[in-house]
Amino acid sequence: MRKLSARRLVVLVSGEGTNLQALIGACEDPGYGAQIVAVGADRGNIAALRRAEQAGIPAFVLRVGDHAHRDDWDRALTGACAAREPGLIVCAGFMKLLGKAFLGRFAGRCVNTHPALLPSFPGMHGVRDALAYGVKVTGCTVLIVDEGVDAGPVVAQACVRVHDDDDEATLHERIKVAERALLVETVGRMVREGWSLEGRKVRIGS
Ligand code: GAR
Repeated sequence: MRKLSARRLVVLVSGEGTNLQALIGACEDPGYGAQIVAVGADRGNIAALRRAEQAGIPAFVLRVGDHAHRDDWDRALTGACAAREPGLIVCAGFMKLLGKAFLGRFAGRCVNTHPALLPSFPGMHGVRDALAYGVKVTGCTVLIVDEGVDAGPVVAQACVRVHDDDDEATLHERIKVAERALLVETVGRMVREGWSLEGRKVRIGS
């Protein structure tokens, strides 16, 4: 079992960037133990990139459509991230599946945050699917990214109650409050204490 550790973070985003903002805030405290060395996006003109700019964090945009093949995009993303020498990649609302090159380069070193209690409700519409199913409790999951869709080893989870009058937007907003806290806590612990991966079992610390 190899113990992994990290300090330099690259955060990948596609949208609003409130999870990124929570990480930016946490990293302002030297005791948190991490530094965001770059923010990467798969599209331009998004709030998340404006948040990075405001915080003075270098950012890059790599659009799938600007590449002849999806694998070319994946290799470009891998190279752009690797150039920043990150110990940990954090997908914080990054809405693209990562490919072979990326997963090969950053195996065990890339986490994602998902707005449901995996393995329930993976995919793009975790909140909508949970609501449609009628569950009374849902939540959020921080997981290690692997080649599956939201299928990697679970690092941490938090529960959120579903209210009778919830719609997708109200439920997602409540999940995101829990999600930001969970992501900040989990990434901080991974950075400060290291983590190990044995099969599907992730353990933070020794
Ligand atoms: C978060 O709720 C995250 O879990 C979700 O997008 C939101 C991003 O919010 N990601 C997925 O659904 C990935 N399958 P943010 O841009 O405000 O951080």
